[in-house]
Amino acid sequence: MLEKLNEIESTALASLERVQDEDSLQQWKIAYLGRSAPLMQIFDQMGKLTKEERPLVGRRANEVKRALEAALAERSENMHRLALQRSLQAEKLDVTLPGRPQTLGRLHPATRTLNEITRVFGDMGFQVYRSPEVETDEINFQLLNFAVGHPAREMQDTYFVESSRERGDNPIVMRTHTSPGQIRAMREYAAENPDNPPPVRIILPGMCFRYEQVTVRHEMQFNQVEVLAVGKNITFGDLKGTISEFARRLFGQQVRTRFRASYFPFTEPSAEMDVECFVCGGAGCGVCKGSGWLEIMGCGMVHPVVLRNGGYDPARYSGFAAGMGPERVTMLRHRIEDIRSFWANDLRFLEQF
Ligand code: DAH
Repeated sequence: MLEKLNEIESTALASLERVQDEDSLQQWKIAYLGRSAPLMQIFDQMGKLTKEERPLVGRRANEVKRALEAALAERSENMHRLALQRSLQAEKLDVTLPGRPQTLGRLHPATRTLNEITRVFGDMGFQVYRSPEVETDEINFQLLNFAVGHPAREMQDTYFVESSRERGDNPIVMRTHTSPGQIRAMREYAAENPDNPPPVRIILPGMCFRYEQVTVRHEMQFNQVEVLAVGKNITFGDLKGTISEFARRLFGQQVRTRFRASYFPFTEPSAEMDVECFVCGGAGCGVCKGSGWLEIMGCGMVHPVVLRNGGYDPARYSGFAAGMGPERVTMLRHRIEDIRSFWANDLRFLEQF
C-alpha cells in the first residue's frame, strides 16, 4: 500500500509537469484528485486494512493528498502568472512616447484673401451677391455693352458651352468675368420696385474662366471680386473714396492710391486704381518693377446703357463698379511668382500659408 502511494504521488507530479493549459489542468485534477482517482480508492479501501497498517497508510495517504493539492495550486498560479505576462508583453503600450502630431488643415491662400476682401467690404456696408459661372453671351457681354463682334471681346478669350452654331448670337459661355452679376443683381433689385428701384451695395465674388495659354502669369481659371454701388447722386468721388478706403483697410492705413484713365465697355469714365507698392513703400523694387505702384483693380462709373439694361433709369440713378483678382492680390502680398501654384495642389506651396 505504501509503495502504491509513492507511485501515485510520483506519477501524478510528473504528469502535472506536462500540463500546459487550463483544460489539461482540469483533467489532471479529475484524474488524480477526483472521486475515482487511485488515491481516493485507497481511502475507500482503508476499512480492509489491519489495525497496524491503517494509521501508517492513512497518514501517508493524507500526505500525498496534501502534496498533490499544493502542487496543483502552485501550477495553477504559475499558469495564470505566465498568461498575464504573455498578454502584457503582446499588448505593450509605452505611454511615455510622444503622440503622433495631428496635421491641421488650413484655408487656401486665395480663399483667405477673398475672405478678407469680403470682410472689409462687409464692414463698409456691402453684401455678397452670387451669380452663375455659366452665362449666356447676352448677359456676359451684350448687356454690358460689348456688342456682338465688339473689339473689346478680344480682351476676354472665351470658353463656349454651346456654340454660336447652335445658338446664333447668344451662345452659352463660361463667364469670363464677374461683371455679368451686375446685370443679374440690378434686375433682381429693380424687380422689387420697378418705378423706384432700391439702392445696390454689393460685391460679387467668384470663379471666372478664360481660354488662355497657361503660363506663369495667366491661368484659365481665377477668381474675381466685383463691386457695385447704384443709387441716387453717386459720383466719381464716391468711387474714389470707397475703393481707396478699401485699399487702406486691406493693405494698411498708410498706403496711398492713384487713379489712371482706362477703358472698359461697361463703365464711363473708366479707370484703374494703383496702390503704392507695399513691398518697397513706393521707392521702386522688383515686385512693382521699379515704378513704386501696383495695379490692383479696374473701375469706373456704371455706363448708362448698363444701368438701363439692369432696370435703373440713368437719368435718375448713377453708380460705380470695380473689379479685382484676389489671386493677383495674394501674389503681390506674398511675392508668389507663378500663378499656376494656386491650382496645382502642391502641399509644399499650400503649407506655407
Ligand atoms: N470685368 C473686368 C475684367 O474682367 C474687370 C472690371 C473692370 C470690372 C472695371 C469692373 C470695372 O467692374 O468697373 O477685366
